[in-house]
Amino acid sequence: MDDLQKQNLEKVKKLVQSAKRVCILTGAGVSAESGIATFRGYSEETGESLWSKYDPQQLASIDGFLQDPEMVWQWYQWRREVNQDKQPNPAHIAIAQWQKRAKQSGQQDVTLVTQNVDGLHQKAGSDPKQYSVIGSLIELHGNIWQNHCLQCSKEHLEDVTGVQQVPKCQSCGGQIRPSVVWFGEVLDQNKWQAAETAAYCCDLFLSIGTSSQVYPAAGLMMLAKSQGAKIVEINPEPTQNSVVDYQIKGKAGEFFPQIVNN
Ligand code: OAD
Repeated sequence: MDDLQKQNLEKVKKLVQSAKRVCILTGAGVSAESGIATFRGYSEETGESLWSKYDPQQLASIDGFLQDPEMVWQWYQWRREVNQDKQPNPAHIAIAQWQKRAKQSGQQDVTLVTQNVDGLHQKAGSDPKQYSVIGSLIELHGNIWQNHCLQCSKEHLEDVTGVQQVPKCQSCGGQIRPSVVWFGEVLDQNKWQAAETAAYCCDLFLSIGTSSQVYPAAGLMMLAKSQGAKIVEINPEPTQNSVVDYQIKGKAGEFFPQIVNN
């Protein structure tokens, strides 16, 4: 570890202790050490990223689904199969424990906004139930384990393990789709407002394992910065973010526990 990295780590540890309101934004990189593929770039743990092998317009857009629903459904079924045995890594666990400690002490608010749909933050103990309340987990891009009807939006809780044909909604006969946000779709407005509030009000913003290329999530960092928050980024690769105050160049599972478990 070079001197700058050591200095940054020490400064970030102090910020973590003194911050009153924290907003954490996570991306696919936080789950890389759990063995889940990222979307862009190369990951040491999982190799090539998803969008280097698959076309997001075909597999992650409403047009793609309407054109070939079976193919899209089966791709998500494959991803679910791949993800089902994956476990939270030390980064997910350290985030969840920090949120718990913060809630218990009442001294800090630690809100977690994730772009990930893998459910690993929940598995680690972060709580999505009250996403309009500061201090919880906001799954901005949805959750791959949930489904709803394309036509009537009804939530479908039935087990679809191994189902290879697009199931039909019992209420309206519409096609059932995974509850993830696709390119071109708007985010759930309650979740987005909660995420914006968390970023706007925080004094410390931690961006972990995201390439910051997908908006509006990537804009949260700028929003936090505009209100005077300190910005920390944990990522083994450099990103385009120019507003970062402290860059921790490394893996989330290795460095995040170090900065919060002093
Ligand atoms: P990306 O795949 O774009 O970026 C993953 C980032 O994680 C990269 O910057 C990697 O360098 C970094 N990374 C890799 N291994 C890491 C590790 N062990 N620790 C920390 N960082 C690591 O993923 P996202 O930024 O999450 O959208 O992508 C944003 C959105 O684009 C996703 O939510 C998804 C995708 O299309 C939807 O599905 C709507």
